[in-house]
Amino acid sequence: MIKIDMITRNRKQFLDLLLLADEQEDMIDRYLEKGDMFALYDDDLKSICVVVPIDSDTCELKNIATYEKYQGRGYGRTLVSYICDYYKKDYKTMLVGTGETPASLSFYEGCGFQRSHRLKNFMIDNYDHPIFVGDIQLIDMIYLKKDLGGGDR
Ligand SMILES: CC(C)(COP(=O)(O)OP(=O)(O)OC[C@H]1O[C@@H](n2cnc3c(N)ncnc32)[C@H](O)[C@@H]1OP(=O)(O)O)[C@@H](O)C(=O)NCCC(=O)NCCS
Repeated sequence: MIKIDMITRNRKQFLDLLLLADEQEDMIDRYLEKGDMFALYDDDLKSICVVVPIDSDTCELKNIATYEKYQGRGYGRTLVSYICDYYKKDYKTMLVGTGETPASLSFYEGCGFQRSHRLKNFMIDNYDHPIFVGDIQLIDMIYLKKDLGGGDR
């Protein structure tokens, strides 16, 4: 049975998963303690995510990852759906920033996010080494957003 827990202590125990989505640990350190962390279990651990507050209307999904061997089984989508529901009473909008790869853009669009804006050169200006996903070098950060649709905040 699927269970989603909020993780308050010892978040670094999930570093292997966090690094799947964000391969430089000091970049993870910038947000890891700033918001909420969730872990999805289906018997054992499958996925994690981290969400931080941005302003009174907006929160941001900073990291989401599913263990490679369990990807494509719906765990990521289930976790996004859970956090969108969880935050809809507190925030109007959820943002997510990602490198420009067809897989991550289609994952977020499939979860109901729409493209918003881009931070030019973010990946080359903020990481200490070039980041590649397969053959694609990540250059810009692409932001997508989702209206959480919680009418009665
Ligand atoms: C992105 C990620 C979190 C998705 O988690 P997941 O558990 O595999 O997601 P789901 O199984 O719920 O997939 C949801 C949808 O996205 C699609 N999708 C997921 N991963 C995909 C991939 N690598 N390529 C293409 N489509 C993908 C699935 O096909 C699915 O669509 P469908 O339901 O219409 O078939 C996971 O692939 C991952 O951990 N990737 C490495 C880390 C990463 O890149 N994180 C995001 C960085 S911004």
